[in-house]
Amino acid sequence: MIADIEALAASALSRIASAENLDQMEVVRVEVLGRKGTLADFGKLMGKLSAEDRVSAGKALNGAKTSLEAAFEIKKAAFENVALTERLKSEWFDPTIPPQGILPGSLHPLTQIQNEIESLFFSMGFTILDGPEVETEFYNFDALNIPADHPARDMQDTFWLEGGYLLRTHTSPVQVRGMQRLGPPLRMIAPGRVFRNEEVDPSHEHTFYQLEGMMVDRNVSIANLLYFMKTLLSGIFKRDVTVRLRPGFFPFVEPGFELDIQCMVCGGVGCPVCKQSGWVELLPCGLVHPNVLRAGGINPDEFGGFAFGLGLTRLVMMRYLIDDIRWLQSGDLRFLKQF
Ligand code: PHE
Repeated sequence: MIADIEALAASALSRIASAENLDQMEVVRVEVLGRKGTLADFGKLMGKLSAEDRVSAGKALNGAKTSLEAAFEIKKAAFENVALTERLKSEWFDPTIPPQGILPGSLHPLTQIQNEIESLFFSMGFTILDGPEVETEFYNFDALNIPADHPARDMQDTFWLEGGYLLRTHTSPVQVRGMQRLGPPLRMIAPGRVFRNEEVDPSHEHTFYQLEGMMVDRNVSIANLLYFMKTLLSGIFKRDVTVRLRPGFFPFVEPGFELDIQCMVCGGVGCPVCKQSGWVELLPCGLVHPNVLRAGGINPDEFGGFAFGLGLTRLVMMRYLIDDIRWLQSGDLRFLKQF
C-alpha cells in the first residue's frame, strides 16, 4: 500500500508540474486531494490494516498529502505571478504625470437668475425668506384661502406625505409664514423649489422653482404691483418685453391677474414652450385676499398688499431660449457648460 501511495503521489506531482494553468491544476487537486479523491480512498482502507502497518501507511499518506499541497501552493503562486505581470503590462499609471488642470464649476442658470432677482429686490427693501419644502396642509392651502374642495388640492397635483404633510406645490405658504414672522408693513421675496404630481414633458416638470413676492402696507394698489413687476422684467431681460395682463383666478388674491410675456423662444410664432400660443404665463399676481392677511395675523381693514408668484424655471427658459424644461435638472455638462 505504501508503494501505491508513493506511486500516486509521484504521478500527481508530475501532473502538477506539467499543468499549464490553474484550471488544469484544479482538476488534479479534486481528483487526488478532494474529499472523494484517491488519497481519501486510501484513508478508508486504513482500518483494514494491522496496527503496525497502519502507522507506517498513515505516515506515507500524510507525507504524500503534505508534499502535494505544498506543490499546489507553489505552482499556484507562480501562475498568479504570471497573471499579475501580464496585467501590469497593460494596466499601469505614472504617478509623476502632472494633473490635467482643475475644471472650474459654474453656477446653475437658475441660481444665477435667482441671485440677480434677489439683489434687485434687496435693493428695493425686500427681505429674502426661506420656507420648508415639506409643508402642512394649513400653510400650503387653508391659510391661502384654498377651500378643501378646490381642484388645486386634487391628488393629481399634490405629492402627499404621511401624517398630513405634503411637498409644497408653490412658494405661497411663505407669504403666510413671512407675515407671521415679520408683521406689517413688510416686503419679502421667497425663492424656492416646488413640487407637483404632473406628467413630465418639454414644459412641465414635477420639480421646479418659483419666486414668491409680497408687499404689505397701508394703501397698496395695483399700480404698486405693476411698478415692481415692470422693474423686475426690465431688470431681468435687459430689453423690451411684450407683456399682457389677463384676469386670473387664485383664491389667495382678489383681484388676481396673469401676467404673460411674449414667448422669447419663438418670438410669438408658436413653439413647444409656449404650447404654440406665442405667450408664456410667467407671473400670476394680485392683491392679497383679506382672509390671507388674517391668516398671517394682519388686520385687512388697516393693511393691504400685493403678491406674485414668479415661475423662475420658466423665466430661465425664456431668458436663455431653452426649449425643454428637462435640460435644467438633467445634470448634463454639455448643457451646464454653456452658462
Ligand atoms: N402660488 C401660485 C401658483 O403657484 C402663484 C401666485 C402667487 C398667484 C402669488 C398669485 C399670487 O400657481
